[in-house]
Amino acid sequence: MTVTVESARASTRKHQLAPVIRGDQETLQFLPGELAGQARKTIALRKFEGRPGQTLLLAFGDRQCLLTGLGDPGELTFPQFQEAIGKGFLQLSEAGADKMDLLLPAGLGWEIPAMARLAAEAVSMAGYTFTGYRTLAEKPPRREVRLVPPETPSAKETKALNRAIALAGFVADGIRLARDLINHPAEVAHPGYVAAEARRVAKAAGAKFREIGGEALKRAGFHAIHAVGRAGEHAPRLVALEYGRRRKNVPTLALVGKGVTFDSGGLDIKSASGMALMKKDMGGAAIVLGAFLAIAAQKTPIHLICVLGLAENAVDSRAYRPGDILRTKHGLTVEVTNTDAEGRLVLADAMALAHRYKPGVMIDFATLTGACRVALGREVMGLFCDHVQLRDSLMALGESTGDHLWPLPLWAPYQRMLKSEVADMVNAPSEGVAGAITAALFLKAFAGDVAWAHIDCYGWSDGHASLFPKGGSGAGVRLCAQYATQLLEDTAHVSG
Ligand code: BES
Ligand code: MN
Ligand code: ZN
Repeated sequence: MTVTVESARASTRKHQLAPVIRGDQETLQFLPGELAGQARKTIALRKFEGRPGQTLLLAFGDRQCLLTGLGDPGELTFPQFQEAIGKGFLQLSEAGADKMDLLLPAGLGWEIPAMARLAAEAVSMAGYTFTGYRTLAEKPPRREVRLVPPETPSAKETKALNRAIALAGFVADGIRLARDLINHPAEVAHPGYVAAEARRVAKAAGAKFREIGGEALKRAGFHAIHAVGRAGEHAPRLVALEYGRRRKNVPTLALVGKGVTFDSGGLDIKSASGMALMKKDMGGAAIVLGAFLAIAAQKTPIHLICVLGLAENAVDSRAYRPGDILRTKHGLTVEVTNTDAEGRLVLADAMALAHRYKPGVMIDFATLTGACRVALGREVMGLFCDHVQLRDSLMALGESTGDHLWPLPLWAPYQRMLKSEVADMVNAPSEGVAGAITAALFLKAFAGDVAWAHIDCYGWSDGHASLFPKGGSGAGVRLCAQYATQLLEDTAHVSG
């Protein structure tokens, strides 16, 4: 997918995608006179009003124009704008358009570069495909989208537009990386593979890369992640990437991801249906690595740490067992009551490694509990955060970016469910209630006093929304990228 900007209000391609504000006739101005008349008739006949979700394909000879409804400008949110564009883009592509002009609408009252950025992000996300393993199907064409601004921009405005789509491109790259990592089968995307991808990302970003793997984990005291991953064919690993360096008045942000490349459940083995999608159990690691790529490519001048806890939860004679007691790097001991509650063990050690960098803010992403999926479904991520400012920032960014979150409580009284008679904590309560909350409370014991947020994500899309094709979703990448920018601005504000 390539996205470019046209330097004039001129559309010359045969295929056009036109987002239309409800009841707006102006949009048709780009059509030559006789076609505009014909189009108006079709629009009236088909009752196309520009409502959200409404689309209309107009065809004149070899020319096709797809109208996609935006609804009323006063009510339109960024995610709805993107959904309309994504939907239109997919329909027009389906109709055979490989190259199209996207006519940015006038009349929304939005900054044009900001609108261009949203549009570019939308088509990149909607146009994602994962077809590398299909030898029989035709390869999808490389699509080209040209953004046409509502008015001919000045040289300065053109520069701003190009910058905007470059930024969208970095975020799209991060999302694509996250999706690819999730979509590859666990046979391919094992801990070593993900670590190698991380190394590649670090190198391209000019970032530092560190890896502790296999027996070295044990020697360094990371017994929890080692126990989870030691039965896997590929050794478990902790990977840390560092972009920028510690400086005065520059925030240090740590992103931590659960990277269980396949979750069989371990000896407490999952059912067939419970295991079916478990290649996506490294979704948290994929998201934070994608975010790292985007933030570093944008050259956001922040001190950014990314820690991936990579392990396969496998079944083998060497597998860790129910009843085992593990000493985490933090020092707390954990009685293993269920080998399928492995994510929190991996994260406990990953968070310990992240703490070495003394972050001001730490955010972890994890496909941590089935309970969160039951509570919130696939499209909303659970947010656990007691730091009011961080929670408010993330909630607001969730709404504006479309990576939606909903707050769930770190309900302190439920800590009682994590009590163990032989160790400091159990990894899995026996009661079978509040599974997402008790998992978050387990992590809280390893969060220290840093401003910390835990995001329980599903990581996988069922293909209902146009921006999220079926498969690895990559939701969270945009959220992190925008949060990094905001954290930097907030810090600059506070420090004068
Ligand atoms: N990776 C799973 C959680 C999961 C399952 C996320 C399905 C999304 C969809 C996690 O490791 C797990 O197995 N959690 C258990 C915890 C339980 C044993 C305390 C769960 O949620 O059932
Ligand atoms: Mn599990
Ligand atoms: Zn898991």
